[in-house]
Amino acid sequence: MLENLHKLRDKALHALESITDSEELENWRIEHLGRKSELSQILRNLGQLSPEERPAVGQLANEVKLALEAAYDDKAKVLKREELERALREQRIDVTLPGRPVSLGRLHLTTQTLREIYAIFGQMGFQVYESPDVETDELNFGLLNMPPHHPARDMWDTFWISDEVLLRTHTSPGQIRVMRERYPEPIRVILPGKCYRYEQVTARSEHQFYQVEGLAVGHAITLTDLIGTLTEFARRLYGPQRRIRIRGSYFPFTEPSIEADMDCILCGGEGCRVCRYSGWLEVCGAGMVHPVVLQNGGYDPDEWSGFAFGLGVERPAMVKYNIDDIRLFYGNDLRFLRQF
Ligand code: PHE
Repeated sequence: MLENLHKLRDKALHALESITDSEELENWRIEHLGRKSELSQILRNLGQLSPEERPAVGQLANEVKLALEAAYDDKAKVLKREELERALREQRIDVTLPGRPVSLGRLHLTTQTLREIYAIFGQMGFQVYESPDVETDELNFGLLNMPPHHPARDMWDTFWISDEVLLRTHTSPGQIRVMRERYPEPIRVILPGKCYRYEQVTARSEHQFYQVEGLAVGHAITLTDLIGTLTEFARRLYGPQRRIRIRGSYFPFTEPSIEADMDCILCGGEGCRVCRYSGWLEVCGAGMVHPVVLQNGGYDPDEWSGFAFGLGVERPAMVKYNIDDIRLFYGNDLRFLRQF
């Protein structure tokens, strides 16, 4: 029996030497140390041995068991290290490979233009106020002094969502929203946003475009403040030599209403293709806030006055970069967008 145990141990240790991975090792453990292994059977059946044999066999069997367990532990450690080394070797990172370039996004030309506009009006003390793209008939028209069926509504071809809801045709409804929120504070804000018009899409007009509305409300605001503000804006955006021209106009929500032009940035007033040989470029529609509109916003027109203007955003960018088709702005053609 003792002899048997020695053999069993030598055989097991010998078998262990040729093992190279943890799966084989586990099989080895089951075979030599598992519940059904020869060694376990010997240990389990010690009681059946004669009292003379039992102590010596018992002692040796236990020694063999400890020896095999120790050998198993050592082997497991070695294998683990080897496997780690192999993994490191095989999955090695080649640091000399060139990296994959990260392609940088960019700001849309409209966003860039908007930010220039924000910065200039920011310097002049205007806050940015955002109002919704989807508006009610009442805010887009009614409260801006255009009751239902008012003929001036025809100036804005409209995308209707229902009888009362529409896509704003201009940023002017924001005027009412700011006034109602800010009363009785004086106001100096710009309201940027997309506007929508049910129009034929051509190289010169889109059914979606940006406007930046301006609104100032205070106790002694006059038309000169408006003209001064627009002149300063044009000069900060296009250079200190710009001149502004004012023409009389009509909007239901301003009185008096004006239209502001500036001398053409390309020809300086001589006349060229960009200004269509007029020497002037349109800047915005504007005017003094109509008393009815002030009232609708909660401001008493006997005490308060204000000016408002509505700037286009794509047009000035078109002039600046010589872009001849407004459809390029929202056509999502990267060949166009990547140029800015
Ligand atoms: N909302 C007008 C338009 O879209 C522009 C405008 C704004 C005119 C503010 C006067 C005052 O045509």
